[in-house]
Amino acid sequence: MAQQEDVFKKIVSHCKEYGFVFPSSDIYDGLGAVYDYGQNGVELKNNIKQYWWQSMVLLHENIVGIDAAIFMHPTTWKASGHVDAFNDPLIDNRDSKKRYRADVLIEDQLAKYDEKIQKEVEKARKRFGDAFDEEQFRTTNARVLEHQQKRDALHERFSKALNDNNLEELRQIILDEEIVCPISGTRNWTEVRQFNLMFKTEVGSTAEGASTIFLRPETAQGIFVNYLNVQKTGRMKLPFGIAQIGKAFRNEIVARQFIFRMREFEQMEMQFFVKPGTELEWFQRWKQTRMAWHQALGFGAENYRFHDHDKLAHYANAATDIEFHMPFGFKEVEGIHSRTNFDLSQHAKYSGKKIEYFDPETNESYTPFVIETSIGVDRMFLSVMCHSYCEEQLEGGDTRTVLRLPAALAPVKLAVLPLVKKDGLPEVAQQIVNDLRFHFNCKYDEKDTIGKRYRRMDAIGCPFCVTIDHDTLQDNCVTLRDRDTMEQRRVPIADLRAIIEDQVSITSLLKKLL
Ligand code: GAP
Repeated sequence: MAQQEDVFKKIVSHCKEYGFVFPSSDIYDGLGAVYDYGQNGVELKNNIKQYWWQSMVLLHENIVGIDAAIFMHPTTWKASGHVDAFNDPLIDNRDSKKRYRADVLIEDQLAKYDEKIQKEVEKARKRFGDAFDEEQFRTTNARVLEHQQKRDALHERFSKALNDNNLEELRQIILDEEIVCPISGTRNWTEVRQFNLMFKTEVGSTAEGASTIFLRPETAQGIFVNYLNVQKTGRMKLPFGIAQIGKAFRNEIVARQFIFRMREFEQMEMQFFVKPGTELEWFQRWKQTRMAWHQALGFGAENYRFHDHDKLAHYANAATDIEFHMPFGFKEVEGIHSRTNFDLSQHAKYSGKKIEYFDPETNESYTPFVIETSIGVDRMFLSVMCHSYCEEQLEGGDTRTVLRLPAALAPVKLAVLPLVKKDGLPEVAQQIVNDLRFHFNCKYDEKDTIGKRYRRMDAIGCPFCVTIDHDTLQDNCVTLRDRDTMEQRRVPIADLRAIIEDQVSITSLLKKLL
């Protein structure tokens, strides 16, 4: 566990050191749970977004995109239920004056039981060596069983309290489990209160004329309120989808794990409108489609899992998360929800507009049902970083830090390196960059030894480097180095585009999806 935490810390500092992610307003010591993407981060992020956008809009004839505004009419959020129910249960410690999410304190307690069980398992594994049967140990060892029983009981009580929205019971669980404040170490807790996560601001220039509006907490509602516009102007027939990428804002109280939980973040959401009664079939199809999208990146099927929800929101009739194995455990990266006709019906009710679909096949009108796929760009970014970061032991005792990014997502695809800064080599290198920059992102670098330049490129995940040497002037060939194998081969300059372009394009990923 501690080792994994160390790796995560290293990834966070690598992100800063190599221009991927900086704390927001860094010179003022940052702003909690808000981050800026640097020169390499923005390229990687754009590539992730492109991969998603094209997989939705290019590969599906019946999915179109929109870009709705962040500010929306305030009634939107009344209709969607966010004004009344987009809350976190908060609790304060009276001694430290620190505020916590009650549900997170309890989840941490559940994780502690898991850790205790894992410790027992690891101890036994060491003791028994090759003869160790983990399954048998977990089902028979008295100490493990005791921890497991306590964990299960807590989990059941916790789920019930959440389901019943029982704030008193949440507090009682915290007291009964003897959970202490990590700062003061005391159990001097206040009552649990609901806290709405939406940020408010005002439109209008005078205090009297101003009205309160919200920064959207999800992009989905921008799609629902445009359902009629898109369906009519695009003459869309069911089933069809509307995709959108954009910023969302949540006043998260427990902001931690770097860009995993942010106050300003980006979502890639797609609402797929279907005929009522077919939604569960489409739900299954979208589960498979979205899992295939993740797995095409080549991070290993074992690093993903579905987490089907037992507790469904009142408007959903099925929901699952796609979880990825981060250094701090399996965590949600994407949600797939069967949202019934809840959102469209609510907007019809609050706006007074008829929001329906006339089905030319059955000659009837109805409110479509919706399957939603919703993925956080920043969480996706984090999962890509976590999986790609690698410290390698090289022959001869040297080490290197390399980001094994999928080539199609890498910020820089090709580094062009003249061996020396003289004898006409920089000019040849610059010419290669000038020719290839129209096809993929190239970077020219002449500073430091070639070894140091390779390391710099490894650290930002650049899949290819070419070195221009004195022989190049005679044979028009360069040395092409592969990031992962570090193998080098001589290739003609004229072949570079053909060798590299296919491997680094988003198309190479999209083709895996068909
Ligand atoms: N429209 C549905 C919706 O917003 P959600 O499960 O609340 O559902 C969807 O969010 C995805 O957005 C999550 O799976 C996660 O990737 C991302 N996300 C949610 N809150 C986030 C936060 N505070 N910081 C970063 N990403 C977040």
